[in-house]
Amino acid sequence: MKITYYGHASLGIKVGGKNIIVDPFITANELAKHIDIMELKADYILITHAHGDHILDVEAIAQNTGATIVSNAEIAGYYEKKGFKTHPMNHGGSWNFDFGKVKYVTAIHSSSFPDGTYGGNQGGFVIEGEHKNIYIAGDTALTYDMKLIPLRTKLDLAILPIGSNFTMDVEDAIIASDFLECDKVLGYHYDTFGYIKIDHEDAKKKFYDKDKDLMLLEIGGSLEL
Ligand code: NI
Ligand code: MN
Repeated sequence: MKITYYGHASLGIKVGGKNIIVDPFITANELAKHIDIMELKADYILITHAHGDHILDVEAIAQNTGATIVSNAEIAGYYEKKGFKTHPMNHGGSWNFDFGKVKYVTAIHSSSFPDGTYGGNQGGFVIEGEHKNIYIAGDTALTYDMKLIPLRTKLDLAILPIGSNFTMDVEDAIIASDFLECDKVLGYHYDTFGYIKIDHEDAKKKFYDKDKDLMLLEIGGSLEL
């Protein structure tokens, strides 16, 4: 499994020979100017919730690639009406896709489209690939529900928001990593706006001091599991 960071909460995942884009917000991200969304490959686009900083480039990428949009029923319905291919899910449900199994899980946040349309309940995703399993938290507060995830899935990587203000901060992400029983964390949802700027070295040290590993990728950078 290869994971590429496209800035903010945007990810590319290559798994089982398929390409997945998660929460694409790239063209309006000043820090991601060097990423050309027309060069991104996508068989699927996963969306955690309907906020603008998670869906901005969904339509352009879906149009360009023909990707199937996977999200909660309300978000999937919104894009289905616009003529896109969609797969609706809801909390606690899983589906075996051709690249692996995806479960839509709880997040504590909110979810409305920039135009005010109801975006259902915000979530995160657990992806079980052929060899490795990951959790993408989406925008969320720290929640006890995270303890449910390792009851079913042994995680190899947790992708957690760390920017605070709208989501968990670094200290809560450390507790989340305990709840998830996963000491390997990729941080996201930081630095993009003034509200969520963080001190990278301080964040990494806080994890290191708890015998945990916080990875912060360059925008466009990748890691392999
Ligand atoms: Ni949000
Ligand atoms: Mn957000």
